[in-house]
Amino acid sequence: MARVASAYVCTECGAKSPAPLGRCTRCGSWGTVVEDEALSPARGPRDAVPAQTLALLGIEGDAPARFPSGAVEVDRVLGGGFVAGSAVLLTGEPGIGKSTLLLQLAAFAAATGADVLYVAGEESPLQVRLRADRLRVGDGLALTRQTEAEAVAAYLRARRPRLAIVDSIQTMTLGDGGVPGALAQVRDSTAVLIGAAKESGAALVLIGHVTKQGTVAGPKVVEHMVDATLALESAGDLRVLRSLKNRFGATGEVGVFEMTSEGLKEVANPSAAFLAERPHGVPGSVVAAVLEGQRPLLLEVQALASKSPYAAPRRVVQGLDQRRVDVVLAVLERRLGLPLEGLDVYVNVAGGLRVTDPGADLAVAVAAYSAVTNRPVAESTALVGEVGLAGELRSVSQLARRVQEAERAGFHHVVGPRSSERVRGAGTLAEALEAVWEGS
Ligand code: TYD
Ligand code: MG
Repeated sequence: MARVASAYVCTECGAKSPAPLGRCTRCGSWGTVVEDEALSPARGPRDAVPAQTLALLGIEGDAPARFPSGAVEVDRVLGGGFVAGSAVLLTGEPGIGKSTLLLQLAAFAAATGADVLYVAGEESPLQVRLRADRLRVGDGLALTRQTEAEAVAAYLRARRPRLAIVDSIQTMTLGDGGVPGALAQVRDSTAVLIGAAKESGAALVLIGHVTKQGTVAGPKVVEHMVDATLALESAGDLRVLRSLKNRFGATGEVGVFEMTSEGLKEVANPSAAFLAERPHGVPGSVVAAVLEGQRPLLLEVQALASKSPYAAPRRVVQGLDQRRVDVVLAVLERRLGLPLEGLDVYVNVAGGLRVTDPGADLAVAVAAYSAVTNRPVAESTALVGEVGLAGELRSVSQLARRVQEAERAGFHHVVGPRSSERVRGAGTLAEALEAVWEGS
């Protein structure tokens, strides 16, 4: 603060002055004292009121209220239901089922007697009505075509609905002559709606389109403004809801649905659904016990190796992190002498799910090994473990829950890191490969 006192100089005589305006105390000239940029700690109004602070432990109040969404799979992804006064962004490609899912959730809340607002910016009320008929829902649900953000915000403040759904944020406008979908309109409408949701205690859900590249169509800042961002993705015939950001829960949580003629139905046993079309006795097909968010899942990992016509053989990866797969293939080649030279290698997660769990490494390694050596893996075998650069098999989080899920699905031979009694433990990738084919 001492520096602020001499942060001004007189333009006439160069004397330092404690005040920004007024008469120079040395030469007496008026109004010529200016800010000295070199001495000034920060530029801006000098008369700003200093920020107030609160003692952290002196802050009191209840945690925000939550209410169930009506779908256990959605509650899981939200971290335990909708939070009053929060804003959620639901993204996904056109046609994936965003409107369907939210109409179902809106109808559920309305059926419990709650006040719910559905802003139909994309479709005509009749289209929404017809969809509701197909889904056999809609009792007590109120609809508006009003896409002026201030009007919707005023409704939230006046009526305090429990749930407000905006389909979609790209149709909202703010002020006169605003063009829906323009970046500033999307951003400013979002800010107004979030403000009203916080004030009124409504749980606000904004639908946001994504471009083909998978980014939200609109300013990135919308993703920073909301409390949670959920993405609806397709995985084969299934739909996967995933939390990309969540201020009220864990990220990476997944919920699994099936699109039926009566809307999205929750899939109670996703492991069985993802393994439904698994081929039997085919080299290159293995089962991985992965963890997506907090949820253990069994997935089929497939690999295929074929002689490459190219000088630089191809590595084609779907549903897994390409770099992790490259590392696993390099370890197979260098530490175990698997001849991958001159082979194109394709690695896939069957069913279209995207897996981010390093615990899928062992499955990738065994799938590739099985494909190259043409040896199928026994059907009751499931794999889990991270592969290190030295060829070691590393432990993974929540091993016990993965093993439990594997056993529940009938996989009684789980090969994985040594950290649990319940797996056939291996310290290295080489030992794990031995364990996979022991006795055969
Ligand atoms: P929609 O929810 O409109 O997708 P989004 O809002 O993400 O653009 O629905 C997309 C598709 O779902 C549409 O092609 C029709 C299909 N659908 C069903 O298969 N069953 C249904 O009960 C409904 C309502 C839609
Ligand atoms: Mg839609």
